[in-house]
Amino acid sequence: MKIRRLTIADHRELIKLWERAKLPIKARGRDSRTHIARELRCNPDFFIGAFDGALLAGAIIASHDGRKGWLNRIAVDPDYRGRGIAKLLTTAGERALRRHGIRIFGLLIHVRNRASLSLARRMGYVEHDDIAYLTKRDGEHI
Ligand SMILES: CC(C)(COP(=O)(O)OP(=O)(O)OC[C@H]1O[C@@H](n2cnc3c(N)ncnc32)[C@H](O)[C@@H]1OP(=O)(O)O)[C@@H](O)C(=O)NCCC(=O)NCCS
Repeated sequence: MKIRRLTIADHRELIKLWERAKLPIKARGRDSRTHIARELRCNPDFFIGAFDGALLAGAIIASHDGRKGWLNRIAVDPDYRGRGIAKLLTTAGERALRRHGIRIFGLLIHVRNRASLSLARRMGYVEHDDIAYLTKRDGEHI
């Protein structure tokens, strides 16, 4: 399994991976080619993929606001699960953030996503049950 940074040339494969992993996709919003190209220009280190040959078997997106880092959208192809790929990607995402001076890493995980919660605990993340997650959006496609 080769871990490498993704480029905009991987956009199509990334969308296909998310579809296989059943992650919701904002095709006209933040997951569009245009939007991801812009994100990649700002943060070329933060889109990371795990490849089996030419096949994108897993991916993760890191982000940070200068104070705290986030690991987002971790996804592993169903045929490749249970082989430690998510652990590799989590470590790679944390490493990329550390290189940008980030020392606190956060994850947002749905309470019913047992595999992801278990992965997070396995990677040393601590749960906070006293924090509510709130968002405000400029549109439903964003
Ligand atoms: C969550 C996900 C990324 C795990 O990928 P994976 O490559 O199979 O995970 P790994 O093999 O690296 O497993 C790492 C740890 O996760 C946990 N884990 C993984 N799959 C699990 C499952 N089905 N049930 C319970 N725990 C699980 C285990 O603790 C495991 O550690 P261990 O092998 O030492 O016991 C994968 O199931 C996935 O893509 N899910 C759909 C997408 C998704 O929901 N993403 C999260 C968005 S927030």
